[in-house]
Parts: sequence; C-alpha cells; structure tokens
Amino acid sequence: VFRSSGLTTLPSILLIGPSGSGKTSLITLFERGTKAAATHTSQTPIAVECSLPVGAVASSDKYRSDNDPTNQTHKKFLLIDTPGHGKLRHHALASLTNPQNLKGLIFLVDAATLSAGDEGLRQTADYLHDVLLLLQKRVTGSKAAKAMKEIPVLIAANKMDLFIALPAALVKSSLEAEITKVRTSRSKGLLDSGIGMGDAEDEKDDWLGEMGSTSFKFSQMEEFDISVEVLGGNVVGGEGPTVDKWWKWISERL
Ligand code: GTP
Ligand code: MG
Repeated sequence: VFRSSGLTTLPSILLIGPSGSGKTSLITLFERGTKAAATHTSQTPIAVECSLPVGAVASSDKYRSDNDPTNQTHKKFLLIDTPGHGKLRHHALASLTNPQNLKGLIFLVDAATLSAGDEGLRQTADYLHDVLLLLQKRVTGSKAAKAMKEIPVLIAANKMDLFIALPAALVKSSLEAEITKVRTSRSKGLLDSGIGMGDAEDEKDDWLGEMGSTSFKFSQMEEFDISVEVLGGNVVGGEGPTVDKWWKWISERL
C-alpha cells in the first residue's frame, strides 16, 4: 500500500483510533468532498490521495505566489486509514515506526463513548497511551528514530452531532485522567512481573510524559517535541459534516 505508484513522495497524515470512531467514514468524506460513504470495519490500512479544498493554504505555500506551479503538488497529501480493532493495530503502529514522509497523526475518537466509567473511555485511553509512548520512545531512542521526531498529534473528537458527545475540552480532560490510570497500572504491572526491577532506566523508558508527575497532561509531551491538540467535529449527522478545524490543522502541517 505504502510503496506503490510513486505516491510515497506525497506528505502523509496517519489516521489512528479505536474501532468505530469514524476513521474510514472520514476518509471517504475527504475523498468525495461532500458526504461520507457507508463503511464496514477495516481489515487493512488504506492510503487515499486527498487534496486540500480551495481556500485552505498549506503553511509551506504561504509565501509562494499563486502562479507557482509547486502550489498544486503541495496541496495534495496521503491520508492513511488504519484498522482500529485491537488485533489489527500492529498495522497502525508499524506505519508509525516506519513512516513515509509523515507530517502528522490524527487520533480519531468517538466523543459519545468517553463518559466516566464508559468502557470506550478505558479502551481509547489505553490505545492513545500506547501510541504516545511509541512516539515518545522515537524521540528518546535511537539515532534513526530521532530523525523522525516532531510528529504533531491531533486528537479529533468525532460524533459531536450526538447529544451525549463530550465537548472537546472535556474529551481532553477525561482522556488525561484516564491515561493517568493507564500509566499507573502499566508501571505497577512492570514491577509485579519483575521487569524493570532494579533497572531504573527501563522504567523511565516505559513511563509516558513527565517522570514523577501524579497526573498525566498532554502538555507533558512537549518535552519530547510532540504537540497534542484536541479539536471537535463530526463526519456524519447533524446539519452535515463539520470538519473545518481538522482541515485547518492538516493544512498547517503540510
Ligand atoms: P474500524 O475500521 O473498525 O477501525 O472503524 P472506523 O474508525 O473506520 O469507523 P467507521 O468509519 O467505519 O464508522 C463507524 C460508524 O460510526 C459508522 O456507522 C459511521 O456512520 C459512524 N460515524 C462516523 N462518524 C460519525 C459522526 O460524526 N457522527 C455519527 N453520529 N456517526 C458517525
Ligand atoms: Mg475503518
């Protein structure tokens, strides 16, 4: 998928998130422009070529004139859909460890499943914790990994058309609180299993964010050159799709 037809030179944005959050719906919306298509749960990653809509200017193009032919090519990008099912996530994580011209990562969540005590909240926090830890390790890790640092992360809070959806600010604080729990239980797990015993370095490597902090905050990722933003929207429902904040985020990173 990633190496075919010379598309690899295009800047790419990776779409990750739990099953059912709306990743494939979002891809079909971006591809078609007006309306998302019906979807089935995804089994494999799919790369789709998208173009920025008229009016959105990629940041690298800001100082180019309208007549500059490179404008055209720079407005195209690849959006890579990944399966959210727990057993298929290795696809998504593999594209993170071996990125092709990756400009950003969108972690799409279903904002209607993130209330306190909801199983969706736990699962979403679990997955997001692992993705952020992988990004953090790339920064702290090998030389090869260092070259790929500074991957900005957008947490796209989807399904805002549903009245039970949490607003973006609450999506942020709920995920931070739940990731705090994941982080604590993971480090306990390591201690119980004996892994990391007496090896402070190992423990440090598997701890997300600021060492010694009691609460996890997305802002702790800045120390690792990982910016995290939370923006709301909806792909279907309501009075039509509302994805302009996400488009803007993408256009600023191409
Ligand atoms: P996997 O492929 O299993 O990882 O799931 P996915 O993230 O690709 O989810 P998909 O796009 O298949 O969407 C799952 C369901 O959510 C579909 O029934 C969509 O119609 C619905 N959906 C997607 N976006 C929205 C939204 O903004 N609002 C509402 N109400 N439903 C949505
Ligand atoms: Mg899908």
